[in-house]
Amino acid sequence: MNEMNNIEWKKLGFKFFPTKHMFVATCSSEGWKVEGLRPFGNIEISPAAGVLNYGQGLFEGLKAYSGRDSNVYLFRPQKNAERIHNGCKRLCIPPLPLDIFVQAVNEVTKANREYVPPYQEDSIAQGALYLRPVVWGTGPVLGVSPAPSYTFVTYACPVGPYFRSGFECIKLKISDSHHRAAPGGTGGVKAIGNYCVGMMPAKAAKDEGFQEILYLDAKDNRYIEEVGAANFFCIKGNRLYTPNLDGCILPGVTRSSILHLAKHEFGMEVFEQKISVEDILDCDEAFASGTAAVITPIGSVQHQQKEIVINNSEPGTVSKKIYKMLLDIQHGITDDKYNWRSVVE
Ligand code: PLP
Ligand code: COI
Repeated sequence: MNEMNNIEWKKLGFKFFPTKHMFVATCSSEGWKVEGLRPFGNIEISPAAGVLNYGQGLFEGLKAYSGRDSNVYLFRPQKNAERIHNGCKRLCIPPLPLDIFVQAVNEVTKANREYVPPYQEDSIAQGALYLRPVVWGTGPVLGVSPAPSYTFVTYACPVGPYFRSGFECIKLKISDSHHRAAPGGTGGVKAIGNYCVGMMPAKAAKDEGFQEILYLDAKDNRYIEEVGAANFFCIKGNRLYTPNLDGCILPGVTRSSILHLAKHEFGMEVFEQKISVEDILDCDEAFASGTAAVITPIGSVQHQQKEIVINNSEPGTVSKKIYKMLLDIQHGITDDKYNWRSVVE
């Protein structure tokens, strides 16, 4: 029997669990070259590697899903390919060709097919195979300048929901003293260095009983940006709001899919705009979105001494409706009207 059948995904969360195969491509002065699949394992790089000294690196995250029909699906991998391509430009990495990215995620999924968690009717308990493409400046540099060579690796790991609560409300804390991104910085790309800066405030918030930080903008300390490594949404009546992509916010694939579904499937009015803390005082529902977070409802937000409780700390009906449609598309249950799914063959 497939050992993936015996795992309780909801409890596993995002714990590292190695799978058998990874995909490698390299880039020298001659450009990008596919090395192909190899056994998952350590790689050797110079201590002077650009990524180790100056953080020249980007990562991606997407999932392979078991369909109800026994196919394995990827969800909009082209979008992740475009995002890493753009991120490469920002970090002076030779842009990774889109077709190499798409080849990598398909081959790694196929090679690690036995680790794709099985389809389960209870969508909240569902697991997926998380694919982690990363690109690093691996050539040696001493001065602050782009590395002379690069390595792109994609590995895979079976996961459950990032917030182990699944579709239950999380409690967030607004940070007054820490920011995730700054105007002109790298918040709009998945630079590896964006993530370690959040570890200290997130740990402090977790120690106080919150699940994550809700970050405000660095300029006015007033406008909502992101929920840790997930996008923020709130709902008022038939209106769905999310912060506009001003360079400090990661353009989430889930974010763009939710905006599309809300507008075209549920007839909602959607707004990408600045959202202040005061704006959420009277919202009906709020949630975080991302590949890892899927859609995680937000039950309360602590701001200074005040607790903003949203929808009685219960998951909202509109959030649930969007969540269900998104999962149904990802798991091959509903029609793929927008061509978002691809079968891994
Ligand atoms: N925001 C940040 C900072 C992230 O790291 C992620 C995860 O990739 C997201 C939002 C959600 O993006 P996506 O929906 O593409 O996973
Ligand atoms: C994702 O949703 O794929 C992310 O990148 C979040 C990750 C940092 C755990």
